Amino acid sequence: MSKEVKSVEYGLEKIFEGAQDFLPLLGTDYVEFYVGNAKQAAHFYKTAFGFQSCAYAGLETGMKDRVSYVVKQDKIRLVLTTALNSDSPIGEHVKKHGDGVKVVALWVEDARKAFEETTKRGAKVFMEPTVESDENGEVVRAGIYTYGETVHMFVERKKYDGPFLPNFVKWESDYNPTPVGLKYIDHMVGNVGWGEMNTWVKWYEDVMGFVNFLSFDDKQIHTEYSALMSKVMSNGNGRIKFPINEPAEGKKRSQIEEYLDFYEGPGVQHIAVATDNIIETVKQLRARGVEFLSAPPRSYYDAIPERLGEHMSMMKEDLGELEKLAIMIDADEEGYLLQIFTKPVEDRPTLFYEIIQRMGARGFGAGNFKALFESIEREQEKRGTL
Ligand code: FE2
Repeated sequence: MSKEVKSVEYGLEKIFEGAQDFLPLLGTDYVEFYVGNAKQAAHFYKTAFGFQSCAYAGLETGMKDRVSYVVKQDKIRLVLTTALNSDSPIGEHVKKHGDGVKVVALWVEDARKAFEETTKRGAKVFMEPTVESDENGEVVRAGIYTYGETVHMFVERKKYDGPFLPNFVKWESDYNPTPVGLKYIDHMVGNVGWGEMNTWVKWYEDVMGFVNFLSFDDKQIHTEYSALMSKVMSNGNGRIKFPINEPAEGKKRSQIEEYLDFYEGPGVQHIAVATDNIIETVKQLRARGVEFLSAPPRSYYDAIPERLGEHMSMMKEDLGELEKLAIMIDADEEGYLLQIFTKPVEDRPTLFYEIIQRMGARGFGAGNFKALFESIEREQEKRGTL
């Protein structure tokens, strides 16, 4: 496994030579959700997805207007935040969008410089560089808006040694379900409005120095009923990958339109999290009540040996077991990947998760798009939103 990962990273560095280095990114720092009830959301991520209690801030720690629970699994850190009164931008966000991702925080060496470089290239300010400190040291954060009301926060934590951020305390809990093997965030996808994809592609190129390394048009991503377009943006070292989707005309309403209608604007559509053992991870998630999209038809699995070609001999997993768990398979020149998608994790049909295991492949499962969208359409049909 480690050999394949190495070659992936080497491949990315070669591809992303065109990226600019004015905004060096070390990785994803955290993802913050604005939700209606952070206590219950944190419990859900612990119980269902195997996250661990990490840090807490609320009334007990001197926070007057909000409460935040931080949960962690390997390198993934999620923050669940709720307003404590009605006069709060957090509450407004939840009222409009439902539970959703507010902040995609990026770990940087120098947050002031990241803020300066991006705002001088046109980024809209969310938060000026701010120093927060406690007995564990100091953190500098600064934020800019991306699509919709979503924010990128730059986090500089080289002088900090606490559990999360200053003024958070370690969250000690007696309830600690075991992790399910989720390792890191592989990519995060944004849905934007009609005709807006190229605006945001250009924004990531100009403001963040990213490159567009993969594109899919509506001729490649369509079913009998609906279509969409997608472009994948990456930073120079390939650690941060943001595909951007926009709806395309079809006979019926696409899943992207459904998202935009229910989220009431652009926002994060899915978070893809990596595992080294998707079979074990998905078995555990299913046992804990996580709901996945239904399996592609039998013919999909029958066609896999031919689709995978030479990669089929490399495949360690049993095809029958993958089929039983509804895990999908795709391949490119460099290897294969295994992936599966959850149903939306809130009542509005908006944000969902992807579980992905890369065995050398760098793609996003383009060979699965049709089967995936047909599965989503079966769900849309039940909701009356197709
Ligand atoms: Fe994805």
